[in-house]
Amino acid sequence: MKKITTSLLVLSLTFGMQAQQHIMTVDVAKPITKINPAMYGIFFEDINFGADGGLYAELVKNRSFEFPQSFVGWVPFGNVTVNEENPCFDRNPHYVRVVNDGRLLRAGLDNEGFRGIGLKQGEDYHFSVYARTPDTKPMKLSIELVNSNGQNLLKKELEVSGNNWQKLTATLKSPFTDAHARLRVVLSTKGTVDMDHISLFPANTWKQRENGLRKDLAQALYDLNPGVFRFPGGCIIEGNNLATRYQWKNSVGPVENRPLNENRWNYTFTHKAFPDYFQTLGLGYYEYFLLSEDLGAEPLPVLSCGLSCQYESNEIVPIAELDPYVQDALDLIEFANGPATSKWGKVRADMGHPAPFNLKMIAIGNEQWGEVYPERLEVFIKAIRAKYPTMQIIGSAGPNADGDKFDYLWPEMKRLGADLVDEHYYMAPDWFFANAARYDNYDRKGPKVFAGEYASHDHPTGKANNFLAALSEAAFMTGLERNADVVRLATYAPLFAHVDAWQWNPDLIWFDNLRMMRTPNYYVQQMYGMNPGTDVLSLKMNGKPVTGQDSLYATAALDAPTGEIILKLVNASAQPAKIKIDFNGLKKQQIVSGTCTYLQNCDWKAINTLDQETIVPRVRPVDINATSLELEVQPRSFGVYRLQMSK
Ligand code: AHR
Repeated sequence: MKKITTSLLVLSLTFGMQAQQHIMTVDVAKPITKINPAMYGIFFEDINFGADGGLYAELVKNRSFEFPQSFVGWVPFGNVTVNEENPCFDRNPHYVRVVNDGRLLRAGLDNEGFRGIGLKQGEDYHFSVYARTPDTKPMKLSIELVNSNGQNLLKKELEVSGNNWQKLTATLKSPFTDAHARLRVVLSTKGTVDMDHISLFPANTWKQRENGLRKDLAQALYDLNPGVFRFPGGCIIEGNNLATRYQWKNSVGPVENRPLNENRWNYTFTHKAFPDYFQTLGLGYYEYFLLSEDLGAEPLPVLSCGLSCQYESNEIVPIAELDPYVQDALDLIEFANGPATSKWGKVRADMGHPAPFNLKMIAIGNEQWGEVYPERLEVFIKAIRAKYPTMQIIGSAGPNADGDKFDYLWPEMKRLGADLVDEHYYMAPDWFFANAARYDNYDRKGPKVFAGEYASHDHPTGKANNFLAALSEAAFMTGLERNADVVRLATYAPLFAHVDAWQWNPDLIWFDNLRMMRTPNYYVQQMYGMNPGTDVLSLKMNGKPVTGQDSLYATAALDAPTGEIILKLVNASAQPAKIKIDFNGLKKQQIVSGTCTYLQNCDWKAINTLDQETIVPRVRPVDINATSLELEVQPRSFGVYRLQMSK
């Protein structure tokens, strides 16, 4: 028995020692093509409570009482009615009238927030309200923070006097931490008070801005080091119908007077309806441009092309009536880039940003298809080119990775001279692994590619953000990078999801009212975003790009400013892989040091949770041998190697 065991051991050791070594060759001397510094970026859409209830830090839902049912989000008590005579804001005319007739102990209303209000003990929150009273004597409001046990542990008094609307403010320090708190506003004196735009923001927003963003979520975006920031969608730019398309002009100027829009995700899925999902546009185009600037990312706005969602109402603006849509695009460019003396440049300047935002790209239409799309796009292209000849224009290849719509639209995009074509693929992990060579044979003379929405959907696990999905995306992205002459931009989608209010999964970042969780997919994006390199280098195994042979995927880049070679290597096999990488063309240079940042997990189903992120990148040093690298690459892993060349 002992003898047999020993011989088995010897046998397996022998096989182990003889495990095939994969030889890859990187040619350092002849960079193949430049990588767009903006290549890896972010797609933002107000889906899954991504803006209102998410990135936009406002904690009060339906603050202006403009939802079709005025009290959605509110629990009124006592004599509280909705009015619109002599409103405070003409485009948001509704307000509440609270009457305390003395017989009731109190009258007022609670706000439930977005599936609760998240408050942190010791943190300051800025409350504000527009109020007036017809009474001659001043009225008193009690502003209260109520925890999920119903205890109003903090109260602050505000005085309302006079019958002209006035903005009242108070800073509240929360005495507790609670993800499901409420805000209460009480009229505590006998009399009448009108109130509108009741708002509560954390003081500690991203960059401490007023009307700001949730700090942890904005920080997570910053940490991706994104090169491009696409906004505000997605399907919401099309709308369920034309009336509810995203209209950027409604999203700028004083926040109190931005009209409410329906969110097209509130009833898209009948089994998952969100009747309380609307867009306040508090996070609007000015804020999107500002965020792009903060992130160091190129802004990429997407506008309606005059077609509402073709899956839904499929409304079509006749060509003869397209002018206002085209004018919206031209005016948007002026808003972003025009001098502060121009009509729309002045709006930007008045909002606090006299300097232009330096917009270079604009996308027209989202997931459109059929002849109706190029017919309309052509009108936009002509008008934009005539006025802004250097503006890059992005058209769409439709909703699918291939098929009739795709095959029809690509030649049309060429004919129209679109600069980039937006491709979308929400496909299974197998597709992502199998498509690492998708762009190797793409036409080099046509428009470039914007991989504008993609995510690996692992259906058997309910489309979890698991390690299988993440690793398949990492493998696929080696093909984006190798073909950086064709693929100029890439953004995962969607970005955010509230754990209690999501419509679509998987998503890059999940959050509740107090915490957020970065998925394994997030870390793949981050590893690419932090390590884009400047030039593609040839990397071959047996004379071919590494696109899945023996479950390996690889790409190489040069980072010219630092003199580093950046390798991205995926081993999708359940076995470790021995790999030798020879660096040709180093001349007198040598590789002197290196690190490997890696994600690894043997369990395809492994996920991160709000309580614990177990799948996070780790860093280790790499053993270097002057002109080559010998690696034992872990099973099911993605590694980014930064290798420093001598000067
Ligand atoms: O990312 C979610 C949705 O997927 C987008 O709104 C749309 O463009 C696509 O269908």
